[in-house]
Amino acid sequence: MAQVKCIGVLTSGGDAPGMNAAIRAVTRAAIFNGMRVVGIKRGYYGLVYNEMEEFYSKSVSNIIQQGGTILKTARCKEFVTPEGRKQAFDNMRAEGIDALVVIGGDGSLSGARIFAEEYDIPIVGLPGTIDNDLGGTDSTIGYDTALNTIVEAVDKIRDTATSHERLFLVEVMGHMAGYLALNGAIASGAEAAIVPEMETEIDQLADLINHGFRKSKNSAIVLVAENPATGGALGLKQRIKEEFPEYDARVTILGHLQRGGSPTAADRILASRMGAQAITALKEGQRNVMIGIKNGELVYVPFSKATTHKHTIGSAELDIVKMLSI
Ligand code: F6P
Repeated sequence: MAQVKCIGVLTSGGDAPGMNAAIRAVTRAAIFNGMRVVGIKRGYYGLVYNEMEEFYSKSVSNIIQQGGTILKTARCKEFVTPEGRKQAFDNMRAEGIDALVVIGGDGSLSGARIFAEEYDIPIVGLPGTIDNDLGGTDSTIGYDTALNTIVEAVDKIRDTATSHERLFLVEVMGHMAGYLALNGAIASGAEAAIVPEMETEIDQLADLINHGFRKSKNSAIVLVAENPATGGALGLKQRIKEEFPEYDARVTILGHLQRGGSPTAADRILASRMGAQAITALKEGQRNVMIGIKNGELVYVPFSKATTHKHTIGSAELDIVKMLSI
């Protein structure tokens, strides 16, 4: 197997706090190991349209603490087509890049898998998404920071919810995964979490209102995972209006607030360890794997597993929220 001499690094999909720490780690570990580094702008778009620049150690100075991504990011439609990927491959070769490190979520790593299979390119992925919805890893880069942002926001909402004795529906992101809602609810002491994973199991809203509220509690906070199928928190508010008119519910949608901010120490450490491991993986001849973390140990997860084997959220985890809010 040919030795990797030059890597391209890109961030793709939704940005996540800690992506910069990952870019820094990848760049410096690669340079430390004698490789050239090319920073690719705007995700796969930069490969397709040749927006790249040589990266040096100083290119990644003073970014470990910054949210967002210095490389910019995008969801590139052109890369979905075979013509777009051919263009990307030609540009990559012309630049002398012989391996890629892709930092992103589900869609970005699925794109990496297809590209790697089509052109036989060594690609290593890093799980960069606040959603924590990739298989084979206990956590993704950005998830811890987003959780902390949610907790900070809910603590504030609790003050007004208590004062007005109201029911608040706080919508969080997750891209059809309920981890931010579930663990945000546990960490903020919320009364319930409503997650897409349980959508077909039970009527979570009816269950909450009929059995979930302690009668002596006059206010409640429910974390609702975004869900286009049900309309998320706004959809639930409408249902409350129609089916449980005795409740005066208010909705707060946290939205993109959850994607910003300086990464927590946990995310910086995770990103740094994973970024350095991506270079070790390429040196070892690993290809088409995502770096994951399992029980504190870094592991290699094939792209096919990372993008298809999701964690599940069961009623036992949701019961913790219920039990601890009596
Ligand atoms: O995947 C990250 C994420 O923030 C999801 O939680 C959310 O559904 C989606 O991206 C929003 O994407 P956009 O910023 O393109 O609206």
